[in-house]
Amino acid sequence: MIQSKLLGLLLSILVTTLFLSCWCQASLITCSNIVPMRYRIDKISITDFGGVGDGKTLNTKAFRAAIYRIEHLRRRGGTLLYIPPGVFVTESFNLTSHMTLYLAKGAVIRATQDTGNWPLIAPLPSYGRGRELPGGRYMSFIHGYGVHDVIITGENGTIDGQGDVWWNMWRQRTLKYTRPNLIELMHSRNIIISNVIFRDSPFWNIHPVYCSNVVVRYVTILAPADSPNTDGIDPDSSCNVCIEDSYISTGDDLVAVKSGWDEYGIAYGRPSYGITIRRLTGSSPFSGIAIGSETSGGVEDVLAENINLYNMGVGIHVKTNIGRGGLIKNLTFSEVYMENARKGIKIAGDVGDHPDDKYDPNALPTVTGITMTHIWGVNVLQPGLIRGIKNSPFTSICLDNVNLHGPTKPGTSPWQCADVSGSSLKVSPWPCSELTSTHVAGTCSVPV
Ligand SMILES: *[C@@H]1O[C@H](CO)[C@@H](O)[C@H](O)[C@H]1NC(C)=O
Ligand SMILES: *[C@@H]1O[C@H](CO)[C@@H](O)[C@H](O)[C@H]1NC(C)=O
Ligand SMILES: *[C@@H]1O[C@H](CO)[C@@H](O)[C@H](O)[C@H]1NC(C)=O
Repeated sequence: MIQSKLLGLLLSILVTTLFLSCWCQASLITCSNIVPMRYRIDKISITDFGGVGDGKTLNTKAFRAAIYRIEHLRRRGGTLLYIPPGVFVTESFNLTSHMTLYLAKGAVIRATQDTGNWPLIAPLPSYGRGRELPGGRYMSFIHGYGVHDVIITGENGTIDGQGDVWWNMWRQRTLKYTRPNLIELMHSRNIIISNVIFRDSPFWNIHPVYCSNVVVRYVTILAPADSPNTDGIDPDSSCNVCIEDSYISTGDDLVAVKSGWDEYGIAYGRPSYGITIRRLTGSSPFSGIAIGSETSGGVEDVLAENINLYNMGVGIHVKTNIGRGGLIKNLTFSEVYMENARKGIKIAGDVGDHPDDKYDPNALPTVTGITMTHIWGVNVLQPGLIRGIKNSPFTSICLDNVNLHGPTKPGTSPWQCADVSGSSLKVSPWPCSELTSTHVAGTCSVPV
């Protein structure tokens, strides 16, 4: 009797360990069920901890105390931290597991502009250094490390990074370290970010890295078109990520799927996969939906559909480089509409810089299985540029129902291709010869 109970216990421990150590289940992605929305019975307000929403008072202690309370007085089902209407200025703070950060209508959590006291953290192992500058990097304004069951939501309150001091430091070259993200989640799982407005991030807005099961929906992300590196959402070495029903207008890529940088990313070896991006609208002088350029851990199984882009640099951009290594495979872009773009589609193997001169020039990326179907654009200056790598040509690039029109510069061919193979069907203007073999019955198949 006791023995069988013990055996059962041991078995259940074994099963739990196996389950937890399995970082991401084979992706069965339906965005609606990858993270359950949780109702929290236990609720506290930032004002219970001395928070003052007058736009002046520094509320760092209030945020840290409230989150300390959630972490240490673990209430069954977790705790909701309510931010009432008002402007709550604070320094950066850490999230904890089993919490909901709830911003009421008219609530603003605003980052201090006192950059002198901003905490530093270690560089990401898959980047080997800060993305902008060698060494450590400033911690994100809102940070989560090793957390799970975290929800950031409410009635479209605002998380305001007040990034202009940081942008100016970048412009004046006075930054000492890499600028902070607005929100970064590291080694975390079961995260929902919904019904929040993100404004003026110092650097990338939302950065899940080494995460699984992350849902971002009904968010608005805003930063001026000339703000440097204000990417919208960058899933990085993460799996089962769903980004949907959102509006993003920033100074850099709206969504960029990444997985580490050159020799550091290759050594860390953590891919991004199972990424769904859908029903997104936005504009940017850079890319709409981007893969890369940091893709050294590999990027697989990405679906982007129902995307509307206005006033873009590049609509769809897959970017990598020599020294990156990494396998980029099975990307699908479907139902993408763009209006006013410099380029419709760009897939290129010569984009992005290197962390240092220790990168391996023989570490060539492999790019295969990219399907673009039902892509249409008006006022697109160049429909497509697809340039693979001489010793690693891009293969199985499939264009199906692609119509990208605009005033092509006289004397230039609409499509430019090199070191690429694939097929096309119903593409206008007529694509480059590398892609003119037609595929069977309009279906683009992905090599296994
Ligand atoms: C916040 O998290 C970072 C990274 O895990 C850690 O270095 C830092 O000490 C934490 N800060 C506080 C105030 O707990
Ligand atoms: C918040 O914004 C989202 C996305 O724009 C919208 O769908 C939703 O209705 C808004 N909710 C409230 C409470 O205003
Ligand atoms: C390709 O990716 C999609 C998600 O976009 C996934 O459903 C499908 O199973 C993947 N195909 C292969 C052959 O892995």
